[in-house]
Amino acid sequence: MSKKVLITRIIPSLAYELLTQAGFEVSVWEGVGAMTQTQLMERAQQVNALISLGSNKIDSQFFNACGHLDIIAQFAVGYDNIDVAEATKRGIPVGNTPDVLSDATADVAFGLMIAVSRKMFYLHNTIAKGEWKQFEPLKNLGIELHGKTLGIFGMGRIGLVMAQRCKGAYNMKIIYNNRGRNEEAEKRFGAQWVSFDELLEQSDVLSVHSVLSDETRGLFNKSAFAKMKRSAIFINTSRGGVHHEQDLIEALQTQTIWGAGLDVTNPEPMHATNPLLSMPNVAVLPHIGSATVEARDGMARLAAENIIEFYKTGNVPYCVNPEVLKR
Ligand code: DGY
Repeated sequence: MSKKVLITRIIPSLAYELLTQAGFEVSVWEGVGAMTQTQLMERAQQVNALISLGSNKIDSQFFNACGHLDIIAQFAVGYDNIDVAEATKRGIPVGNTPDVLSDATADVAFGLMIAVSRKMFYLHNTIAKGEWKQFEPLKNLGIELHGKTLGIFGMGRIGLVMAQRCKGAYNMKIIYNNRGRNEEAEKRFGAQWVSFDELLEQSDVLSVHSVLSDETRGLFNKSAFAKMKRSAIFINTSRGGVHHEQDLIEALQTQTIWGAGLDVTNPEPMHATNPLLSMPNVAVLPHIGSATVEARDGMARLAAENIIEFYKTGNVPYCVNPEVLKR
């Protein structure tokens, strides 16, 4: 009998095609938004495998109802919505989709950095409001990036591409903070590992590319912003939970730091009245890091391949808890 897979949102059809070609029976949640928790559990109870999204809460309550699942294949590189420890306890592999979205996400970080340094989103809005009257020699001044120091928090695949962009375009000095050393970044870009405090103190642009975990939740808070340069730009394209949003608002209002570019907010979606949206030195995007045709197709392919390969060989090419595969 063929195995059943539930895809919890409409994603690029490639995932559906690859799975059906491989003999799986695939159902797709075709509702407008994310499934409710009850809908998710009811539908997941009827299948063997799941393609999940970040909006699905795969917690212990979910596992109590759906502990029978063979595999969960997340359609994202991030998996902070999944209780991986609980999945591991139950022997359920969790797949994710790294690499294919690194260029797209680093492009958003890079674009936000430039947009903030020249107040682009804000100035665009002033034109739309009819406020562009004349050339202003002393107004709308931004800051240049050439030769500045880029600090990367979380030097993984996406951080590495951001470093490459910034080195190539602006010959920026690269420093980073990670749990471990990244030899590739050190070799290719002369990146230097620094302590977290040194990262805060030395960065002209500080770009966050870490996972959201108990260690990183709310890490960029009032005390962190207070250690940064007054001229610094803070960029976050990883997860909104890594920065404390109210503290960030205050750091910008009090000119503790110079600007911020966010592709991720806390909460998401950001409310239209959020003061960040009207600040000159801020640019905000609606979590579009991986939103290119190429990246999303790649994510669909990897999510499907994680499931196909698991049933074929017992291996999951991109697995975040590979220890369950060795059992
Ligand atoms: C990811 O892949 O983690 C992106 O943020 C989309 O959720």
